[in-house]
Amino acid sequence: TKHFKVAVLPGDGIGPEVMAEALKVLDAVERRYDVRFERTPANVGGAAIDLEGKALPETTVAICQAADAILFGSVGGPKWESLPPNEQPERAALLPLRKTFDLFCNLRPAIIFPALTGASSLKQEIIEGGFDLLVVRELTGGIYFAEPKGIEGEGPARTGFDTMKYSEAEVERISHVAFAAARKRNKKLCSIDKANVLSTSVVWREVVERIGKEYPDVELSHMYVDNAAMQLVRWPKQFDVMLCGNMFGDIISDEAAMLTGSLGMLPSASLSEGTFGMYEPSGGSAPDIAGKGIANPIAQILSASMMLRYSFAMIDAADAIDAAVEKVLNDGYRTADIYQGHPGEKKVDTVTIGDAIVAAIG
Ligand code: NAD
Ligand code: IPM
Ligand code: MN
Repeated sequence: TKHFKVAVLPGDGIGPEVMAEALKVLDAVERRYDVRFERTPANVGGAAIDLEGKALPETTVAICQAADAILFGSVGGPKWESLPPNEQPERAALLPLRKTFDLFCNLRPAIIFPALTGASSLKQEIIEGGFDLLVVRELTGGIYFAEPKGIEGEGPARTGFDTMKYSEAEVERISHVAFAAARKRNKKLCSIDKANVLSTSVVWREVVERIGKEYPDVELSHMYVDNAAMQLVRWPKQFDVMLCGNMFGDIISDEAAMLTGSLGMLPSASLSEGTFGMYEPSGGSAPDIAGKGIANPIAQILSASMMLRYSFAMIDAADAIDAAVEKVLNDGYRTADIYQGHPGEKKVDTVTIGDAIVAAIG
């Protein structure tokens, strides 16, 4: 029997609601495959502030350190927005977790399921036949982390400032991951930057170009981020892998998510060198729908599938989860965010679609 340790960090808002469904899916995988997932829950984000006085308690970090992977829900919400910025859940828990575990590589696959073509915000003829793109986002550098950053001065001169920086080494390691991923897919990589304005992007583009020489079978192109945002809604099928820095990847991946029908569909994997990783939906704690039992758990469930694929090398089980999600969508199950009112669609709550996915795993 294979044995893996999973740190379970549900967090805030819809986090605990969708996490419960992902854990049911792990139970189903245990029943079907010869594997045990030893799960240790830990507080994070606003929930941890309320219970333990800070967003990322040492006990939580220790539980993550002892684990083979982290399954993360989401953090943040109106209740904690008036705290000093450095104590808020996003900045005091999520970003430090990414930095502590050197999770420099964030994979966000945006795939349109055939059953959901109608839920996309784009016209049918643009979506028809589906698309499958992968956003590779650098996650531990750039404007999110570089120093100095802060707020200083008073009155009209009071100034907020952030620093955007990328070293060649940082760009090199994320480029290698992106080219390797493209090599296993449709062999196209589009690097997104703002090299017409930003020095970081000048370095970024040069390094990506140089690393690209090691992957002659991958077709490399470069695109300014403003054009990329436009091209993504104009003709998403032109893209295979989109390689982005931290902030551009944040924005482009939300846009890509919506093309698939809902932010609630988009999983993510945050990886380091080696097999350790943190797996979390690309979207947030959705305070507007939290507590109603109507959130879409698919992003969280597909994040669990990515954990099996990337950290545990359980490819068959990951494929089985993905297939179960597809089957349940084909059977017409829809949470509110992907419900169109077409014949054959059933509008259901979080638990019901989770149960259907569990049943489909068998
Ligand atoms: P959000 O992603 O939480 O929500 C944006 C919209 O998408 C909302 O209308 C929400 O209802 C919808 N949505 C998101 N996930 C959904 C799901 N699973 N099912 C159905 N609908 C879903 O973004 P926001 O409103 O800008 O941010 C809310 C809070 O979440 C903020 O505190 C933000 O900082 C935080 N956040 C956290 C993470 C994270 O922990 N990884 C990511 C993004 C935002
Ligand atoms: C995401 C989120 C986070 C980010 C926030 C909550 C810090 O938006 O995971 O996409 O910007 O990386
Ligand atoms: Mn985001």
